Amino acid sequence: MKNTEKVYIGEPTEPTNIVIFGAGGDLTKRKLIPALIKMLRCGLLHPDSKIIGVFKDRTYDEWVESLYQGLNKYAPDIGIDNAEWNTFLSMLKMVNGDLQEEPTYQVLADSLETLGNHMNAMFYCAVPPRWYTTIAAGLHKLGLSEEKEGFRRVVIEKPFGMDLDSAQKLNKELQKLLDESQIYRIDHYLGKESVQNLLVYRFSNGILEPLWNRNFIDHIQISAAESIGIEYRANYYEKSGALRDMIQSHLMQVMTLVAMEPPVEYTADAVRDEKIKVLRAVRAFEPEDISKQFVAAQYGAGSLNEEPVKAYVTEDDVSPDSVTETFAGIRFHIDNWRWQGVPFILWTGKRLPKRVSEIVIRFRKPPFNLFDSHATPPLANSLVFRVHPDEGITLRMNAKLPGLTTDTQRMVMRAPYAENGQDVSDAYEVLLHDVLNGDATLFSRADEVEESWSIIDPLLNAWKDRISVERYRSGTWEIPGIENLFKDCVGGWHEPS
Ligand code: BG6
Repeated sequence: MKNTEKVYIGEPTEPTNIVIFGAGGDLTKRKLIPALIKMLRCGLLHPDSKIIGVFKDRTYDEWVESLYQGLNKYAPDIGIDNAEWNTFLSMLKMVNGDLQEEPTYQVLADSLETLGNHMNAMFYCAVPPRWYTTIAAGLHKLGLSEEKEGFRRVVIEKPFGMDLDSAQKLNKELQKLLDESQIYRIDHYLGKESVQNLLVYRFSNGILEPLWNRNFIDHIQISAAESIGIEYRANYYEKSGALRDMIQSHLMQVMTLVAMEPPVEYTADAVRDEKIKVLRAVRAFEPEDISKQFVAAQYGAGSLNEEPVKAYVTEDDVSPDSVTETFAGIRFHIDNWRWQGVPFILWTGKRLPKRVSEIVIRFRKPPFNLFDSHATPPLANSLVFRVHPDEGITLRMNAKLPGLTTDTQRMVMRAPYAENGQDVSDAYEVLLHDVLNGDATLFSRADEVEESWSIIDPLLNAWKDRISVERYRSGTWEIPGIENLFKDCVGGWHEPS
């Protein structure tokens, strides 16, 4: 079925000038343009909106061609036809210029002025982090971020800082130029169907809340396994590693949603007030705990889908002595009434056998085996929110084996989030739509970002002088030391299936 026929639920947005800095880059063609096309198709992007790409060193035609190629390569399901593409093209404008140079902002200002049938503008920083402040300053200087008649919102991509210091500095600089309410720090994990569903399941089903605590839950695992390597991103990844790239941002954000108390209302600040309480309750890492609560490793050569793949240290632009981790796992403790004694284990890695990301709530074991003591003891239940693939919820229960026995077998109840053919929106569609509608619930606030860095900083410090790292073979789950994270956890490591 072509996506045009799908029903999309959501508030329409006001006409807006959407300015993309770094419009010639990868994020724009992989994620932003496909999301905007789908929003337009579904009536969620106002057709009077304009999309203004800011980039340098290429012509308009080259830019448009690369967007079209990107669409076919990264979002082939959209199935765009010529008429639709031409309608979309009529919304596209460009500003050719260097974002470090003031005249670029003047050209942008003039261009917004000529478009001027409305005053809303969203500025998307799809650029490396060192340019975030430059852009905010350029906009500020020409009054482009001033909210006079319409809204002016600035979207900041991750990474937001590389440690607590740099995140604080970035917050301070941005807040001098913009009001906090204008800053949308994007974390695309929060726009994923499963992650939003987690909140809806937790807070709209009466049966879950009584179980959602230390009395019934043994431990929680939040994971993101990827089969891809670092692709073309060595320059970024060498400085980042899995801990910064995935755990400090995406997975810790998900942890706050799993662990938070019910907010007083579903508004950005009420939700974020509860999330930050979770981060404040995370037990600080003492130097002696680090080796027990933290696992890091790097992929070596191996094979995936029967194809040989290279070791991390032989990827282009990676130093042969690199000790950057491509797998990281952390065991967190949240010191509050609800979660005392329940480990939260977050892990992520590249070049693992498959791409699978999930949130596993593992309940305590049944207290006593009532049935035949020689038969299989019943297993602990688990509730799994599958982020991808096969987005949906799975509940694992014990059931009776058919026949003249009381022995048990595993019964898996699955509930996909969407029926066949129904559309699960991409995270960027959800988040762009939220920015346009001024809903910051799924975006990180300044204090949240700083709090999560302050939790991670001791690990980064303990690590900065390391001279070696464990290795795992690409395409396997053989991560050295992973079992340490699951000490005393019912069922141990939930190796994704
Ligand atoms: C990005 C990371 O934020 O998320 C990448 O920088 C990672 O390294 C990606 O591959 C994973 O996102 P998704 O949506 O594919 O799970």
